[in-house]
Amino acid sequence: MFIPTQTAQDLQWFFLLKRDKMSSVTLKNVKKTYDNNKTVINNINLEIKDKEFLVLVGASGCGKSTLLRMIAGLEEISDGEIYIGETKVNNVAPKDRDIAFVFQSYALYPHMTVRENIAFGLKMRKTPKAEIDKKVKEAAEILDLGEYLDRKPKQLSGGQRQRVALGRAIVRNPKVFLMDEPLSNLDAKLRVQMRSEIKKLHERLQTTFIYVTHDQTEALTMGDRIVILNNGDIQQVATPEEIYNNPQNTFVAGFIGSPQMNFINGKDLGLDENILYGIRPEKMTKPDGDIKLTVDIDISEMLGSERIAYFNIGDKKCSAKFDADVKIGKTLEISVCSSDLYKFNPETGERI
Ligand SMILES: Nc1ncnc2c1ncn2[C@@H]1O[C@H](COP(=O)(O)OP(=O)(O)OP(=O)(O)O)[C@@H](O)[C@H]1O
Ligand SMILES: [Mg+2]
Repeated sequence: MFIPTQTAQDLQWFFLLKRDKMSSVTLKNVKKTYDNNKTVINNINLEIKDKEFLVLVGASGCGKSTLLRMIAGLEEISDGEIYIGETKVNNVAPKDRDIAFVFQSYALYPHMTVRENIAFGLKMRKTPKAEIDKKVKEAAEILDLGEYLDRKPKQLSGGQRQRVALGRAIVRNPKVFLMDEPLSNLDAKLRVQMRSEIKKLHERLQTTFIYVTHDQTEALTMGDRIVILNNGDIQQVATPEEIYNNPQNTFVAGFIGSPQMNFINGKDLGLDENILYGIRPEKMTKPDGDIKLTVDIDISEMLGSERIAYFNIGDKKCSAKFDADVKIGKTLEISVCSSDLYKFNPETGERI
């Protein structure tokens, strides 16, 4: 086939440009062992899609920050390969990986103004002043920081400081944003507000975000997909709906959901003895349930819009969730639809 030279060149440019924009992140058999021979990340395979908002969630010490820091190049990997777009970055210095990192501690320079803090990275890269000014102005607009540009960090609230840290990341125009518990120093109300701010930012910037948190609500509300990590292993990667409705094992089932899923031995439900059953607290008192039993209430808690009752079924602690106006006595009729039950292997915890 004949392609005129000019068109061939155009095509080449088209693909080059297209490829240049790809900001997927791929981990292949990634491992991390610290000097003390402790393996912290076992063997992780994960593909984070271009423009995706991916949340890494797990308990303290499970390896979230280590994984994020390896993607950033702040921590060496012991084995495996990391790609950003098409480029293998194992041997690429952090500053050349085209990523921006937002830390829990903000890491602002106290002696610099907000403007100088936001501009710092660009200045270090010898970006022309006019361009710096334009980018800082844009970032300040997006983050509503316009009136604080001449203040020092100590003259700002926690939420405003966190926005400056985000501003510093935005002006870099990176391929990938990495965020390690960026909201954990904020009070509950501000956290909720900043959650949606960061989601909006993602939509506006159309860039890949990898976001670390130990907070399941943040994971569920923010992630396009969630990665559940436990002891350096991936337990499940899926959308929030899929994680909640279709957990692959008892770890995921117990980790996501509040109060956590009830686990009940088969014999205590009059069902298969060798199966561990799971059921969400909000599914414990269905009017049309085909499995019924009576339990003694230990305690009930009023949480404003809802009420939680705690009790035992066999040797397992369980809970049920109700509307706040439901009155709860000393005993409770449990009524469960067998279609709402999850089945797990009691030895391995895997979903059956
Ligand atoms: N430099 C180091 N040397 C040895 N062990 C380390 C080092 N850094 C981290 N670890 C260990 O690696 C494990 C994972 O740590 P990491 O900071 O990744 O956890 P995390 O999931 O981010 O926890 P948190 O939610 O508390 O921030 C922990 O057991 C930690 O003690
Ligand atoms: Mg951490």
